[in-house]
Amino acid sequence: MAASETVLRPPLGSLFSSCHLPSFSLNFSPLLSFKPSSSRKRRGLRCTNTLARGDTFQSPDCVSKGKKLQSTRCRCQRNDIEEDIRSNLLPTDGLKSDLDEMPLPVNGNLSSNGSTQSAGTNSIEDEAWDLLRQSIVYYCGSPIGTIAANDPNSTSVLNYDQVFIRDFIPSGIAFLLKGEYDIVRNFILYTLQLQSWEKTMDCHSPGQGLMPASFKVKTVPLDGDDSMTEEVLDPDFGEAAIGRVAPVDSGLWWIILLRAYGKCTGDVSVQERVDVQTGIKMILKLCLADGFDMFPTLLVTDGSCMIDRRMGIHGHPLEIQALFYSALVCAREMLTPEDGSDDLIRALNNRLVALSFHIREYYWLDMKKINEIYRYQTEEYSYDAVNKFNIYPDQIPSWLVDFMPNRGGYLIGNLQPAHMDFRFFSLGNLWSIVSSLATNDQSHAILDFVEAKWAELVADMPFKICYPAMEGEEWRIITGSDPKNTPWSYHNGGSWPTLLWQLTVASIKMGRPEIAEKAVELAERRIAIDKWPEYYDTKRARFIGKQARLYQTWSIAGYLVAKLLLANPSAAKFLTSEEDSDLRNAFSCMISANPRRTRGRKKTQQPFIV
Ligand code: GLC
Repeated sequence: MAASETVLRPPLGSLFSSCHLPSFSLNFSPLLSFKPSSSRKRRGLRCTNTLARGDTFQSPDCVSKGKKLQSTRCRCQRNDIEEDIRSNLLPTDGLKSDLDEMPLPVNGNLSSNGSTQSAGTNSIEDEAWDLLRQSIVYYCGSPIGTIAANDPNSTSVLNYDQVFIRDFIPSGIAFLLKGEYDIVRNFILYTLQLQSWEKTMDCHSPGQGLMPASFKVKTVPLDGDDSMTEEVLDPDFGEAAIGRVAPVDSGLWWIILLRAYGKCTGDVSVQERVDVQTGIKMILKLCLADGFDMFPTLLVTDGSCMIDRRMGIHGHPLEIQALFYSALVCAREMLTPEDGSDDLIRALNNRLVALSFHIREYYWLDMKKINEIYRYQTEEYSYDAVNKFNIYPDQIPSWLVDFMPNRGGYLIGNLQPAHMDFRFFSLGNLWSIVSSLATNDQSHAILDFVEAKWAELVADMPFKICYPAMEGEEWRIITGSDPKNTPWSYHNGGSWPTLLWQLTVASIKMGRPEIAEKAVELAERRIAIDKWPEYYDTKRARFIGKQARLYQTWSIAGYLVAKLLLANPSAAKFLTSEEDSDLRNAFSCMISANPRRTRGRKKTQQPFIV
């Protein structure tokens, strides 16, 4: 239909050109012809221990082996990584880091005012550091990550003995802020190797750029030689995970950590490596591939992020969109221009603008917007519909009517045709602030909302993963009667101390660190006494979660990152992104062309009803 062509293509394209952004085409097929370098054909890594079993590890000797494929021993496979490890994993010497301009570390900790924080004065922090170090996982003698939980009394370990990509992010940042760079560098480079692993589930393979949810270092007998063992990195892409969900967030977090590593250490040689650049592009290729979508948001299945089991967040959940936006911004900063990358950069820029417009316009909720939705006309068949997604006002949940404060607002959890998920999801909102996916005003409004709803979102322990919990029939249908996700537990309204670090970055970015300080103070009252639980239960977060692990690493690391950043707020800039003028310009062009802004309700024409 000719009319729809004019609506679909020119508005975006013409806006960009009039705003002097690079012109773009939604068809960026050259990107899809991108070929990984030959080094990426490796299928994960093995590391042979040349000593007899039981002896102390001394000289690792890595071989590459295809998982489920015939083993291919190749001693020179790990050339670049191992070379880096040997030639100095701690790029502290001679590196110009942003940290150089900051106050000198005191006992390794950065202090904003130069005051000494002598060992022992903060026993909780000391304990946290000890625990974090105890959770370190080594491969070929080098630190490469931290296990999810180190609970000595837990009877069922499940996969908590693995290194989860998302869980490692606060650990990695804590180490970066402490000036211990090697573990982060190793993590980045080794997980990159896993990206190209052979992965299948019932004969189906997901996209090439997928990063695993987690991996484990296994010590196994060496084929053909019983007296020797080798270490194997064994990733899980979801093929073994409960529910078999692909972790969409892993690759996005990997890009975010890579950028933070470069910013913090000043060592951009890692992000400039050919294999790292290839890794970034593979992740982008997977995310930017053409599909059936009408929306610029990333379409994913339920459980593809921190909430990794069924919670009714399939579709376009905010958490994924915030991480997606953030990863695009970080990748744009790190991609080295080269022949053939123009299409990718163009596609990325276009997506950034379309994505921020979509989220800021359609996900935003405050009193004014609720009132607008309350008075929505429905069944508007037209190109300039105000109620584009055909939301029926009756969908506004009764809890929301009283819950929304007069001041403040937030981004809703999800948006689909005829469906708004009005729940508040913390990580998505906080990371929208951190990445500047939310506007400056929206970011302040989200923090206003957090302050106004402190009793519900924080109560006795920061921070509710989402609000409110689903109960009764809704819980039964949406979670599939999940006994772990009962109301006010785990993903269903449980409180997760790890979210402290994202809260801290967001509040520092907006110049309101006192919000994070208050939350940290509250956490300090219990968290160490309670043995660093994974999550807390009940409306007010009064109980340790019924199935929560103790000594959960990202609870420990999240607390440490919060403390380190509050002591040295300027370090938060390693994690935050500011909207640049190109994006701002394109965004304001789009917003002025939006019917919702240009068309007042009075002028509304009679909608076409089909
Ligand atoms: C749970 C969480 C997930 C986390 C994992 C390891 O499955 O839902 O987000 O990565 O535990 O801690």
